[in-house]
Amino acid sequence: MSLFKKVDELRSEFKQALASNPALSDLERLKQKYLGRKGVINDLFKQIKDVEADRRGEFGGLINQLKTDVQDLIDAQVRESHSEEQASDSLDVTLPGVEYTRGTLHPIESTLRDFKRIFHRLGFAVAEGPEIETQWRNFDALNFPPEHPARDMQDTFFLENGSVLRTHTSPVQIRLMLEEKPPIRSIMPGRVYRNEAIDAGHYCLFHQVEGLYVDENVTMGELKATLELFCREYFGEAVKLRFRPSFFPFTEPSSEMDVSCFLCGGKGCRVCKQTGWLEIGGCGMVDPNVFKAVDIDPEAYTGYAFGMGIERIAMMKYGITDIRLLFENDVRFLKQF
Ligand code: DAH
Repeated sequence: MSLFKKVDELRSEFKQALASNPALSDLERLKQKYLGRKGVINDLFKQIKDVEADRRGEFGGLINQLKTDVQDLIDAQVRESHSEEQASDSLDVTLPGVEYTRGTLHPIESTLRDFKRIFHRLGFAVAEGPEIETQWRNFDALNFPPEHPARDMQDTFFLENGSVLRTHTSPVQIRLMLEEKPPIRSIMPGRVYRNEAIDAGHYCLFHQVEGLYVDENVTMGELKATLELFCREYFGEAVKLRFRPSFFPFTEPSSEMDVSCFLCGGKGCRVCKQTGWLEIGGCGMVDPNVFKAVDIDPEAYTGYAFGMGIERIAMMKYGITDIRLLFENDVRFLKQF
């Protein structure tokens, strides 16, 4: 190979080595290889004598140029590596880190967790059912007569296939009683849907917690005691509970439950509309017709059931005045909990 060609080859070899972004120690090695006393460029200088006399000047100029280029490129690269190293040296690990914002539990989720925790201690399991239900489980099996107004288009979202978006969690009672033999003791939390005009107190979707206890000799006294224990635990010792006679197709007798207003302590205020009481749900003894629908002998078993609205209770507890805030999920609102 001609010596001229060798110069070209060394130059491109060097450029390749540099292009691989060598570390500082590698740069030092490159420098030795090309520019060192026993380096390849010095070798070339020694070979000047082998070049034809009339081209020696040209050849000398070429290797001198190669030498300066190698020197300059290595220097530039060393400078760059140093400044990079300095930049990483300036990282002060004692500075406080960047804080990640952690999410908070949604007030509905915390309320549901409180319910599960308290009822778990009272011996209740947790069961769930689907949000799309048959009309039979949502209405018929729960002893709703065929013409009951709750089936009306105004309350119920009907699907094309005749199913409904469940309007309450009570159909999960039917599922449970079809699947299990008494004793049954469960709460059934979940989402429910109603085709209602939306305002500060109503939304097309909300949550309920259903409760069911079926066994021999279950009494209304037990129902009251259980709900009272729950309310003391959830709202605090000072809370008072009131049962008002009411009607639900699936319970007989039925009643609605009120708690003393958490805001005014029962004296009467804007939130409780001056009554001192706030309604939290319905309850009663399982109607014998419901037992018949799920093939449980109403002569052998009795049971109680209850259903509470979660949004209502969460709004009371956290002082939220518009139910829509719970579904808009604006972080400025959610961060407060
Ligand atoms: N399902 C009723 C509703 O959505 C609430 C209810 C009342 C549930 C009484 C019950 C009960 O289990 O016993 O309005």
